[in-house]
Amino acid sequence: MTELKVLITRQEIAKRVGEMGAQITKDFAGQAVILVGVLKGAAIFLSDLARQIDLDSTFDFIGVSSYGNRPSPTQELQSGWDSTGEVKLTKDVDQSMKDKNVIVVEDILDTGLTLTVLKKLLMAHQPRTLKIAALLDKPSRRKLPLEGDYVGFKIPDEFVVGYGLDYAEKYRNLADICIVPRE
Ligand code: IMP
Ligand code: MG
Repeated sequence: MTELKVLITRQEIAKRVGEMGAQITKDFAGQAVILVGVLKGAAIFLSDLARQIDLDSTFDFIGVSSYGNRPSPTQELQSGWDSTGEVKLTKDVDQSMKDKNVIVVEDILDTGLTLTVLKKLLMAHQPRTLKIAALLDKPSRRKLPLEGDYVGFKIPDEFVVGYGLDYAEKYRNLADICIVPRE
């Protein structure tokens, strides 16, 4: 594999995650929140963000995967891909979301498909509020009109890894966010 190029350093991530946590703390002052992490990519972001939120909070996790039509990371890198709108739930939330302040925590907002499906699914729980916190956003890739309520960094259309994000399940443990170069 060719060399990875750093796009966002660990220091920049820490600073921005601190700001996002402060904003959430302010917006929900005096209330409790449920942070719902989208497995597996959001695990590291959730653990850092949660420690920057000074509110009563609980965690939950939801698992999703695309049906077989999503290409391998290599194909994705070479040609990009078009989503067909099918997302499969692999793990549902454990607790009731009814009348709760729910914040879905996601690594990256790309086509918008995953979060559109998750939003619909979680709305069925009748939460009091439902917000989206995404560390990264690739607005140029959007296929469905969806915006994050709390967005860390808008990035260009590059395939990135690190800080939870993977390439074929690897590189999630990198501390910086790096670009995988297109060959
Ligand atoms: P969406 O449904 O197209 O918005 O896709 C969101 C999901 O695609 C993310 O949760 C990631 O798992 C994956 N994804 C999108 N872009 C990247 C990337 O650049 N690197 C790693 N995973 C990505
Ligand atoms: Mg993901």
